[in-house]
Amino acid sequence: MIKRCLCCITGESEAARRSNDSHDYPWEIYTLKELLHATNNFNESNKLGEGGFGTVYWGKTKKGVEIAVKRLKAMTAKAEMEFAIEVEILGRVRHKNLLSLRGFYAGGDERLIVYDYMPNHSLISHLHGRHAADRVLDWPLRMKIAIGAAEGLAYLHHEASPHIIHRDIKASNVLLDSDFTAKVADFGFAKLVPDGVTHLTTRVKGTLGYLAPEYAMWGKVSESCDVYSFGILLLETATARRPIEKLPGGVKREIVQWAAPLVEKGRWDRLVDPRLAGRYDRDQLRNMVQLAMRCTDGDPERRPTMREVVEILKSSGGARRRETEVVEVGEEEGEEGEEGGKREASQLKKKSWRVSSRMR
Ligand SMILES: Nc1ncnc2c1ncn2[C@@H]1O[C@H](COP(=O)(O)OP(=O)(O)OP(=O)(O)O)[C@@H](O)[C@H]1O
Ligand SMILES: [Mg+2]
Repeated sequence: MIKRCLCCITGESEAARRSNDSHDYPWEIYTLKELLHATNNFNESNKLGEGGFGTVYWGKTKKGVEIAVKRLKAMTAKAEMEFAIEVEILGRVRHKNLLSLRGFYAGGDERLIVYDYMPNHSLISHLHGRHAADRVLDWPLRMKIAIGAAEGLAYLHHEASPHIIHRDIKASNVLLDSDFTAKVADFGFAKLVPDGVTHLTTRVKGTLGYLAPEYAMWGKVSESCDVYSFGILLLETATARRPIEKLPGGVKREIVQWAAPLVEKGRWDRLVDPRLAGRYDRDQLRNMVQLAMRCTDGDPERRPTMREVVEILKSSGGARRRETEVVEVGEEEGEEGEEGGKREASQLKKKSWRVSSRMR
């Protein structure tokens, strides 16, 4: 699909734009003027959110299309690399569960990436953020989102050529369209895996709370690191707990440590998000949580592949099964949540654990 690499493009302006008009590229090259106009000069009121590398603004093009524009912060070599990887990789992939790149602008110190606007924002905003209070994400939607995100990731691991490891799977990187279809976003840390290579050793990137132990400790990255992060995401989706919580006294506890004893005892009522008020499918919940425990196994060899994850999630009925079951709701423990720590996690020494989980 890709016709030329990014480095060939960023230097060209009008010529590249003209050839893009004849559909040479799968993306558009915008002018700064167009994007300033669309976002009302990056107006504060257009701000959708802020991440480690930039600020995201809502905008509307002259044609009336709603867009999200990520404006990279500082023009460091690292930011330039992220920008190049994101544009290069997103230009290669097309899947219903991956966020589409509409285009970009690269000029002077400005690096802007233009995406489709996702009216339902990110999964994190529904689980813990500003949309969490407005409306509880119901169980069938949680299943739909989990399956969609798993399919997007399975595509990257098994169908994209070369295969792609995302390396930053987390709730803020799962965006939701008007229909709550999951779109995996943020490819700035992604790695292309050449054929025949089983793992790569790299500097550790990603977000604390989601990092596989072998990656956090030794920088050993493979598809199964994404599977681990996806397992954390599944637990978060089912329980609405944060990947890392601060207990009274300042001790930090990871979601798997919290969930493991409850899974052992089969306390599904204590695990599930209490805001669902008992309205969930018990079999699907058990299936999702047990799968999450397998995905977060300390031994990467024992984790399922993303293809298996998709199959297992779908096996319990997935989004098609609408009936809910009312069960006893467990007590909430009075704990303060904390945003999972961020980025550059090379100092992290994470303990490895193994949780026995029995799939039905
Ligand atoms: N295409 C989009 N449509 C709607 N909202 C978006 C879009 N892209 C990003 N956002 C919003 O902007 C916020 C910031 O995104 P960004 O990717 O910069 O940071 P992050 O994912 O929160 O953190 P990090 O930098 O660690 O990845 C997101 O949480 C999301 O709510
Ligand atoms: Mg993000």
